[in-house]
Amino acid sequence: MASGVSRLKEKGCIVTGAGAGIGLAVARAFASEGASVLVNDIDEDAAARAAASIVSDGGRAVSNAAPIGSVDSADALLEEALSAFGTVDVLVNNAGVLRDRMLHNMSEEDWDTVLNVHLKGTWACGRALVRHWRPLAKAEAEEGRVLHRKIINVASASGLMGAAGQSNYAAAKMGVVGLTKTWAKELGRLAINVNAIAPAALTNMIEPLLKDPDMAEKRLARFALGRYGTPEEIAPTFVFLASKDADYITGQVLCVDGGLVI
Ligand SMILES: NC(=O)c1ccc[n+]([C@@H]2O[C@H](COP(=O)([O-])OP(=O)(O)OC[C@H]3O[C@@H](n4cnc5c(N)ncnc54)[C@H](O)[C@@H]3O)[C@@H](O)[C@H]2O)c1
Repeated sequence: MASGVSRLKEKGCIVTGAGAGIGLAVARAFASEGASVLVNDIDEDAAARAAASIVSDGGRAVSNAAPIGSVDSADALLEEALSAFGTVDVLVNNAGVLRDRMLHNMSEEDWDTVLNVHLKGTWACGRALVRHWRPLAKAEAEEGRVLHRKIINVASASGLMGAAGQSNYAAAKMGVVGLTKTWAKELGRLAINVNAIAPAALTNMIEPLLKDPDMAEKRLARFALGRYGTPEEIAPTFVFLASKDADYITGQVLCVDGGLVI
């Protein structure tokens, strides 16, 4: 599965929600750059298929079905990645769900489900990794070594501009932007870079939103490039932020969205 570049050689990476869509493309792109990847997804079969496809292409991957959204799942995820690879250097907080409703119709469950996966899940996974990384980074600093580690969160246009019908999702993603900026400030001195990507790609999450032709036309008209991207067009920016080339970038939200947010 070598791309010939190997920008993530010997890196251990965790990608949540990587059984499909953007997460799957990111896991595959990381593996093609030489990384060992823990492919997490609540859909156990999808996670297993994704990991198997990476392995059959010559890459290194294991699957994990922990439901993102709790401290226990986050700790289990880290344990499994460490026991499989011995190191974890990159965390991608990608797992996500939508429960779109206008405010007057939104149930408590719609709110809790979305906030739990996107916001608490991102917080819990970041916390688990940072608790593991802090002593390593401090020991390296004492030896005069600097080894960058990376957290890449997944934000959204909704989390930058708001979106009708998405008070749960917009609040969660705005919270993810808040975590990104706060962690960048907390963790920079430990050489932990924290950035977010706000993507737009045609995936299972988006397809239902384009079923109605009138709605689809209105949606696509908002993109400068006039279309949704593919997950494979989003993944290279994750590789870039995970790589050494981005060691001096932190606290940023990069829109990889065909000009949706300008
Ligand atoms: N596709 C877009 O245009 C777009 C735009 C903005 C933001 N995003 C964000 O990108 C991320 C990926 O979305 P996608 O479009 O690839 O969607 P997707 O539905 O194709 O993939 C999401 C994956 O997350 C998994 N998942 C859901 N809940 C989980 C949980 N609790 N634990 C573990 N896995 C879980 C799903 O099973 C699924 O495989 C999400 O955070 C989403 O909010 C996507």
